[in-house]
Amino acid sequence: MSTDAIVLLKNDHKTVEKLFKQFEKAGEDAYDEKRRIADSIIEELTVHAYIEEEIFYPAAREAVPETKDHVLESVEEHHVVVWMLSELLGMDPKEETFDAKVTVLTENVRHHVEEEEDEWFPEVRSAMGRKQLQELGQRMIDARSDAPKNPLELKSAKA
Ligand SMILES: [Fe+2]
Ligand SMILES: [Fe+2]
Repeated sequence: MSTDAIVLLKNDHKTVEKLFKQFEKAGEDAYDEKRRIADSIIEELTVHAYIEEEIFYPAAREAVPETKDHVLESVEEHHVVVWMLSELLGMDPKEETFDAKVTVLTENVRHHVEEEEDEWFPEVRSAMGRKQLQELGQRMIDARSDAPKNPLELKSAKA
């Protein structure tokens, strides 16, 4: 299995996209299923944001200083997402705003992922090269277990 940092991040993006699609397909009244999917989304995105904020973003910013603005905007986008995750965490799926929150979260994350993958990752890849990306990816794998359970403990929550 590849430890390339960008491959790993893209795999996470795919995992989350699958969960979004599952949620979209779930029936209006499938409250237990929607709660379960939301919990998986929260968990996946919290770990993903953690390794990006702690490891990938700082390393990428150092490797491609011209993308500093992009990194700063990305952290602000995480900030919004992380607060939405924290609201969903304790929410009853029967509440009428539950689906609306997941829908807006989905839109935000899709936009964010598109910007990361289309504009930014290719620049980072060419600046870093294979070996560095593999080392970075290994550090990211090792750090996954240190991620907080509560999204509000992420750095971006306070950004
Ligand atoms: Fe991100
Ligand atoms: Fe990402």
